Amino acid sequence: MQTILVTGGAGYIGSHTCVELLEKNYEVIVIDNLINSSKESLNRVKKITGKSITFYEKDILDKDALDKIFNDHKIDAVIHFAGLKAVGESTQIPLTYYHNNLTGTLILLQAMQQASVFNLVFSSSATVYGEVNQAPYTEDMPLSATNPYGLTKVMIEQFLQDTYESHNYWNISILRYFNPVGAHKSGLIGEDPNGIPNNLMPYVSQVAVGKLKQLKVFGGDYPTIDGTGVRDYIHVTDLALGHIKALEKIASQTQTSIEAYNLGTGNGSSVLEVVNAFKEASSKDIPYDIVDRRPGDLAIAYANAGKAKAQLGWEANQTLKDMCQDTWNWQTNNPNGYR
Ligand code: NAD
Ligand code: UD1
Repeated sequence: MQTILVTGGAGYIGSHTCVELLEKNYEVIVIDNLINSSKESLNRVKKITGKSITFYEKDILDKDALDKIFNDHKIDAVIHFAGLKAVGESTQIPLTYYHNNLTGTLILLQAMQQASVFNLVFSSSATVYGEVNQAPYTEDMPLSATNPYGLTKVMIEQFLQDTYESHNYWNISILRYFNPVGAHKSGLIGEDPNGIPNNLMPYVSQVAVGKLKQLKVFGGDYPTIDGTGVRDYIHVTDLALGHIKALEKIASQTQTSIEAYNLGTGNGSSVLEVVNAFKEASSKDIPYDIVDRRPGDLAIAYANAGKAKAQLGWEANQTLKDMCQDTWNWQTNNPNGYR
């Protein structure tokens, strides 16, 4: 069976992907410095699957640590989640973001090249479609960024393109996630943001549980169905399964390639639609106030998910209701996250 190195595997999307990998009998090795996660997530992964993970509490900036991992294990492919991801914070400490995300990725690519491991799945984001394109986004649209976090994704995609063109033994899948939400059905793993959440679903969930008083809806005058922003929310387990499909494609194809895929449902939901779906799932009131738009927000963002369906045989199956129910199940079972 194949052995997969998962960078950032203790994080939100990484831990859900580890579950799906183990359930498909992959061997899983995780490297994570726990800067935005807890080791407890990996204990929970073990509890869900009954299988264990080899865990290295190390930084991907540590080339020696990476070299040792590649020396000690026969790794077939890498899924690269490790990175800092808060848009607002990236404008406050851009150098930290550039160093961690860009230098970290360069060091990982060097270690992979040295170890002759050329199969890579990379976590990109819908943020690479920038402000100029109109939804639904297709993978061939021009990329741009409006903040340092987004720029790290655009730049890493370019690093990967250049790396592939220099040596086409690289086999690379770039996955552009839309808005990952929800949690594993077991309620044992989920999103565990530090402090007050920036993103909609964890915020709504903390209002429902009574930790936060009320939701601020950023903007009620967008040209959308009810005036609030529209996004393509995708269940984190569907997203995790997209990584398995990407690995399967890499392993099965006779010619190497570099391809980008949108991982989204292809449907947009407004903020108020999310609030209503969450109300129903939790049977809790979700008080909200419509306030000014958040600077940098788009009115409407959703995927054309056709390429992933055609080439990976992947599509999202879970509904907004599932996403809200599973978020609520995780929230009520773990009111303080992993702490
Ligand atoms: P997360 O913060 O939960 O997971 C990232 C993990 O990487 C964390 O466990 C963190 O400790 C680890 N990490 C960060 N820097 C590291 C380093 N230098 N060395 C080792 N480990 C390091 O975030 P997530 O939501 O699971 O996101 C995973 C990836 O997906 C990220 O690259 C993120 O940019 C991307 N992404 C996330 C979203 C989203 O909404 N969650 C959307 C699009 C793209
Ligand atoms: C944000 C990031 C984006 C990142 C994505 C995935 C910004 C500007 N963008 O996208 O780069 O890839 O997360 O994690 O941060 N909303 C409210 N009230 C809130 C929070 C959000 O009304 O308290 C609204 C937003 O205006 C938006 C929608 O809810 O319309 C979703 O917001 P959010 O969950 O933060 O995701 P994005 O803005 O799509």
